[in-house]
Amino acid sequence: MTNRLDAVVSSIVEGVRNALREHDVTFEEYRKGFKFMMDVAEAKELPLLMDLFLNTTIVEIQNRQAQGSPSDLEGPYFRSDVPLVTDKIKTMPEFGGTPLVLRGHVKDTDGNPVEGATIFVWSSTPDGKYSGFHDNIPVDYYRGKLLSGAGGAYSVESTVPVPYQIKNNGPTGALLEAMGRHSWRPAHVHYKIRKDGYKDLTTQAYFEGGEWVGDDCCEGKLTDDFVIAETVEDGKHVMDIDFVIERAA
Ligand SMILES: [Fe+2]
Repeated sequence: MTNRLDAVVSSIVEGVRNALREHDVTFEEYRKGFKFMMDVAEAKELPLLMDLFLNTTIVEIQNRQAQGSPSDLEGPYFRSDVPLVTDKIKTMPEFGGTPLVLRGHVKDTDGNPVEGATIFVWSSTPDGKYSGFHDNIPVDYYRGKLLSGAGGAYSVESTVPVPYQIKNNGPTGALLEAMGRHSWRPAHVHYKIRKDGYKDLTTQAYFEGGEWVGDDCCEGKLTDDFVIAETVEDGKHVMDIDFVIERAA
């Protein structure tokens, strides 16, 4: 029987060794590298660093085997303890924000409607943060869970999210800056669709032509499937998406 752990770790180590050889990395640079890793650990930024560079790859591998809609990054801001919402997600008028209607259908891989699926929706506040992780905005704002109804249809109103920067005041942000990269993510809406007997689908949707779409610091947006042309109806922006979920094995 092959030892999978040995196979994966050995490949990672060999990949790193090859990078060091390719760039003639010096002992001083090597020492700086592990000082950086110690700083990252001390700042408790290991999850941030790992997700920044590697989470997309794991999602990409997952999508290779998927028959349903493509997955995307979950990110650090998902909360399951959110209110059930029907027509409207709570927002705070003092923060402004353009109304956004999220609607569409949930289907299975045969194209049949899936009723009673729970759709978790979360997106940034108009000032680029997330409720529950924001000093002034509790978790029942700018997020919620709704149920697909007849014909698998869902519809709920929120506000248009904005691009935001990932945490950039620690060693991970310093690394990005030193590399000449930025820490911006394009505006996006997070979704997680959950239904007994089906695999969870965790994904994100973006707006066509939005700033940083195609230059996401986290390299999200693995496909163009959920880059949505923004339409406006009765003064409200609309994000219309059908999700396909796959039966659990
Ligand atoms: Fe996000």
